[in-house]
This record gives sequence, structure tokens and C-alpha cells, in this order.
Amino acid sequence: MRRGINFGALCLVASVLGATGARAEVIYDPATRVFRLVGGETEYDLGIDPEGYVQSLHWGAALGAPAPLAAGPGAGAAGPDAPHQNLPQEFAGQGEGFVPEPGIKVAFSDGNRDLVLRYAGHRIAGNTLFLELRDIARPLLVTLRYDVDPATGVVSRSAVVRNGGKASVRLDQFLSATFTLPYQPDYRLSYMTGRHASEWTMNRTPVTGAATVMESRRGSTSYHANPWFSLDREGLTTEESGPVWFGALGWSGSWRIGVGRDLFGRVRMAGGFNPYDFAWTLKPGETLESPVFHVGYSDHGRGGAARLMHRFVNGSILPEGSRTRPRKVLYNSWEATGFDVTEAGQMALAEKAASIGVERFVMDDGWFGARDSDRAGLGDWSPSRTKFPNGLKPLIDKVARLGMEFGLWVEPEMVNADSALYRAHPDWVMNFPGRPRTEARNQLVLNLARTDVRDHVLAALDRLLSENNIRFIKWDYNRTWSEPGWPERAAGDQQRIYVDYVRNLYFILAELRRRHPGVEFEACSSGGGRVDLGILRYSDQVWTSDNTDPFERLAMQGNFTSAYPASVMMAWTTEWGDPGASLEYRFLSAMQGGLGIGNDLNAWTPQDFRTAKAMVAAYKRVRATVQHGELYRLAPPDGTTPYSDTLYVAADRAQAVWFHMGHSVAVRDNVGPVLLRGLDADGVYAAAMIDGGALPEGIPAKASGAWWMSRGGVVPLKGQYAGVAVVLSRQ
Ligand code: GLA
Repeated sequence: MRRGINFGALCLVASVLGATGARAEVIYDPATRVFRLVGGETEYDLGIDPEGYVQSLHWGAALGAPAPLAAGPGAGAAGPDAPHQNLPQEFAGQGEGFVPEPGIKVAFSDGNRDLVLRYAGHRIAGNTLFLELRDIARPLLVTLRYDVDPATGVVSRSAVVRNGGKASVRLDQFLSATFTLPYQPDYRLSYMTGRHASEWTMNRTPVTGAATVMESRRGSTSYHANPWFSLDREGLTTEESGPVWFGALGWSGSWRIGVGRDLFGRVRMAGGFNPYDFAWTLKPGETLESPVFHVGYSDHGRGGAARLMHRFVNGSILPEGSRTRPRKVLYNSWEATGFDVTEAGQMALAEKAASIGVERFVMDDGWFGARDSDRAGLGDWSPSRTKFPNGLKPLIDKVARLGMEFGLWVEPEMVNADSALYRAHPDWVMNFPGRPRTEARNQLVLNLARTDVRDHVLAALDRLLSENNIRFIKWDYNRTWSEPGWPERAAGDQQRIYVDYVRNLYFILAELRRRHPGVEFEACSSGGGRVDLGILRYSDQVWTSDNTDPFERLAMQGNFTSAYPASVMMAWTTEWGDPGASLEYRFLSAMQGGLGIGNDLNAWTPQDFRTAKAMVAAYKRVRATVQHGELYRLAPPDGTTPYSDTLYVAADRAQAVWFHMGHSVAVRDNVGPVLLRGLDADGVYAAAMIDGGALPEGIPAKASGAWWMSRGGVVPLKGQYAGVAVVLSRQ
């Protein structure tokens, strides 16, 4: 019997240079059987122990040389447990009583559920390591993949399982990766939870023997929890110093990440497909690939970890074009009109939007089929004949004449029961025959896992984009799954829906991008319900939240940017929140991401238009820095102070933008001086207020970077909603 593939154990070092000259290396030492994955300032190591188990050895700062590393026996011996039951394996099978979360659980056709994976070979290709594991007795193989990003040191891990046997195997759990960190007394886990209009709440909790599980069981990413985590040391880590381990899953379906301590106090982490309702029949010769789990490490606190994630997402996740193209200033009609969409109304809004410098006019829900409310029309992607008797062309042409791009809202994965599509194809929604079909927001979920449904959705969107000069799609997704049946498939194959659905979604998006390369996409799910590193491979930006209260947004944005860059974080000015918040304050809040305007422009005064025009122009001057610069949360908007300070510094440090925002600042509150970070210490910076106003006393017209970082500027803030932004330009 073939005991596995030896890819070539003599391959010692392979390295790849990143765009910035940063290096990633995969080093294998055949003497110690240790793999060292080094990228940027970080290192991730694993080793093969004498029995052939692959053990986690190190994840953290680069170790330099010599680094005495070896996977030894005994790493799992504890009381009544056998040594193997607690081994810090890189990816264990559920077998021989392994106690921590295994990477994979299977049931062979003869009832055997014991799977023990050991090293079977490896291959190094550039900055990628493929590591082959194989069961001790049966031809079930798992290939672990590790890609090291030269620019950030982020390691992207995934796994492929292959059934080399003659009978089907049922997979009951298949994760992307499992991780182990050595014992330290004070690990702390951060993760984000939320609900509609209240996404991006940060939670911090000590890591104990009782595991914390973040997950979605809803079929999509969901905002109940977001598939991102960070771990730090409570006694050591601050916003700008100390160790932080972080990561995010690239998957837009049901997922799970669990974190806890094992018997030794080591942190064990596991993430991938959610085992909830998961089952996959792997036929002879078939493979299944997991989502990718991207993890990294920073020595520079939570801010440093966030900046690495920003660099990684901007440089390696986002689609090609949007890595450098700035986000366009958009207008969206939803808050102004709701479903009350008319051609004349949209044209009037477009004229007003163009007058303040908007670059992209987006018509939201309500333009198609019989869509006068959320009770009808989803699935029928042709313009309403009453609202647009001559199709979309007159409006799109008008928008183009006004110098703007045209964008459109769609929700292609959904159908209202009251729609032509559902009447024609009631079998196209996920369902269990003879059982109720639960509706949410009056809609049902199309079974995108079906090839015919996938092809229909692709064709409908392709036609829309081919027949109209549309440059932007807001792709919405507004309900949780229920009754996830796929009756056309054999009973043992129906739960593939959790994987095939998401793969087909990615397929459609990839294909639309390929056929319509100029079109940009925004991922929306009742706000920020589908934000993850999977959908971001096909999306240029995301809708952060339906909550556009400019004050509440500051906290949400502060947390969002722990995981994802400002370049994808869309933020609109609207009328949400306290009417006492000025339009300028609303702009200062929304300008900290991709700026959009969602106000009812028909209600604006001439002064509002003047303010908006000035702020849009100012935003265009700083947006490259905001979207692609280095972000420093000098005083995070987490409610611990009555003010927050967020700083964006361009990569070449030639420009910096400091947003200084206050809320309910009392006379007794001392605000400032605020010390900036990340500037060129020897550079001379000229200061200007973003709105063109006079410089306050505490802001010098010219000062060195060192002055700003050690002495700092003072701008007193007073009252309920106060805010300023200072732009520093190196001379
Ligand atoms: C969701 C989105 C909103 C808007 C509506 C339209 O709630 O989050 O921005 O597009 O749908 O129905």
C-alpha cells in the first residue's frame, strides 16, 4: 500500500519577495524535521515528532537563529489522558481519544470513526508549504496548505481531504485549521458581535478552559458574530504595544471559530465550516477543500494588528482594481425615497447630488418588477413598467450627462412568493417537501447550490449589466436561511447546500467581474451581515451598517477597522440619530471610510448644499490617505472618553488626517493635547482645517513631525456633537 507522497524532503528553503521587498520564506530542516514559515516580522513553525504527528511549535515574533525547535514526545501527557489525547497537533483527526477540537471527524462506511493523521510528505513551492497527512491505516489523506504573505507575514491556512479508498466516507466536521499557543497566564480574546443596525460590538474576555465559540448557523456570515478574532496578553498588550495574534476566515457561509485552553493552559483555536448541520459524503477519489483561515501576529498592539490586516486585505484579498482605485463618493436614494422610486424623482435627486461633487449615483430598492413594498417583486430583475416606462436608459443617460456613474441595488439570491420567478419556479427555493417554507422579510432563499438556479441568477445579472450602462452593483442579502433542503439530491448529499451555495455565489461574482471588468460591487446584508475575507475577494466595498447615526457609527467604525480596512468601509451622511448633530459633524464621521451621502436632498437648504460641496471636495483631497493609509486610534471611540481621535497617515507619510470628535464634552473634561503617531519626525508639516476654517490657537501653521508626536495639538471641543479634522501636509 502507498504510505503517502514524499514531495521531496531535501527542499530546504524557498523564499519569495513581496512588492515592497519584504521576504517570505519556508524553511525545512531535515535534521530536526522542523518547518519555519517566516514572513515580515513574524514566524509560524511546526515540526514532525518521532511518531510522525505534526505538532505546532511557534506562532509569533520571528525567532532568528539559532532557534532550537523540535517536536518532542510528551507534549500531551496529562493525568488520566494518554499522551496522544492532548498533543498540540496542527490538524488532528478525531481518533484515539483526541480531546481538543479536531480538524476533521469522519465516519467510514463500516462504522469506524477512528482517524489518526500522521505526516506523509511535503512540498515547498515558493512561499507555500503543502503538508500531507495520512491516516495510520486507511487511504484518507489531508493536505494542509500554508501561504506566507511577504508584506505582512500573514499565514493563510486551508486543508483538502481526499478519499483514496473504495467506499464513501461521511465527513461530520472539516475545519480550515487548528492552532496552539503556549501557556501564558493572561490571554484575552477579542471578537465582534451584533444585530441589525447594531453591528460591530467589540467583546473582550479572558481565555479559560471553557471554550468561547463564535459562529454563524444562518447559512451566511451574519452579524451575530463576525469571523474575526484577536488574542492578546491582558498584562502586556495595549492599543500600540505588546503581542497580538489575529485572524479571519475567508468564508461567507455558516462558520465557526472556537477558542479555549487545554489541560496545559495552552490556547487551542479551531475554525472553518460550521459542523452545525454539516455532513458531506466523500465518494471514492473525491476531495473537499476547506475555506482559508488567515492568521497573523503583531508586536505593536491592537493598532499594529489592525494595520497588518488592512495591508493584507488591501494588498492580497481585494479584487485587483480596488486595491488601488479610491472609493467613489456615492449618493444612495434609499433613505430619501424608500420604495417610492420614480424616474422623475431619481432624476431630481441626481441633479442635486451632482451639484455637490458626487461621483456615483445609486438607485436602491424599489425600481424593478412589482416592487412597491418588500412584499413583492424580488426575483424579477426588469425595471418596473410603471416607474420606468422607457427602461432605465433615460435615467442612466441623465446621470452620465451629470458626470456621474450609475449604480443599482439588487438582491439576486432572494425571491418574494409574489413574483413571476417564484410562480414559474417554486422548486427553486431551498425547501423540505411537504413542510412549511418560512418567510423572513416576506422572502424566500433561492437554492443557489443548484446549477440551474446559479445559471439563471448569473444570466439575469449579466443581462442587466450588458443592456445598461451600470458601473456599480449594491448586492444585498436580507434574510437568514430556514428549511435548507435540497430535495433533488440524494439524502446523504443534501447538506452540501452549505458549501455549494457559497461556492456558486463566488462563482457568479467572479464571472460577472470577468465579463464586466469595469463594474464594482458592494456586499450588503441588511447592513454589515456579510463581511468576511471570502466575499471581499469579489467585492470592492461593503455596507457597514444600516445604522448611520454619526455618533454611534464612530464606535462601529473603530471596531470594524480592527479587522477590515477603511477602504472597504462605506459610511453615509443621513438624517439618522439626534437632529442636533450638524451636517458637518455627520460628514466628519462618514469621511473616515468610503464617503456616501444618503440624505433626502430635497429637504436641504442652500447652506446644506454649500457645506456638503465643501466637505466632498475636502474628502477627495484626503481619501487616498483615509482609505489606504496607516490607521491610528489615538483615543478609540469606545466610550471611555468623551472624545475620540482617529489618525490616518499616508504610506509615504506626506499627508496625515486627524479626526478629533467629541460627544457630550463637559467643561470639566480636559481634551488634549493629542499626540499623533507615525509621522516623519524630521519632516515639516503644514496644518489646515479640513473645512478650510481658521486654525485654532493650539494648532501651529507649521511644525515638525517630532513636534506633533511629542507635543501635540490642542483643539477644545464643547457640547453634544463637536468635531474637527486637521490635515497635515509635509512641505
Ligand atoms: C437593506 C439594506 C439597505 C437597503 C434596504 C433596501 O436593509 O441594508 O441599505 O438597501 O435593504 O430594501
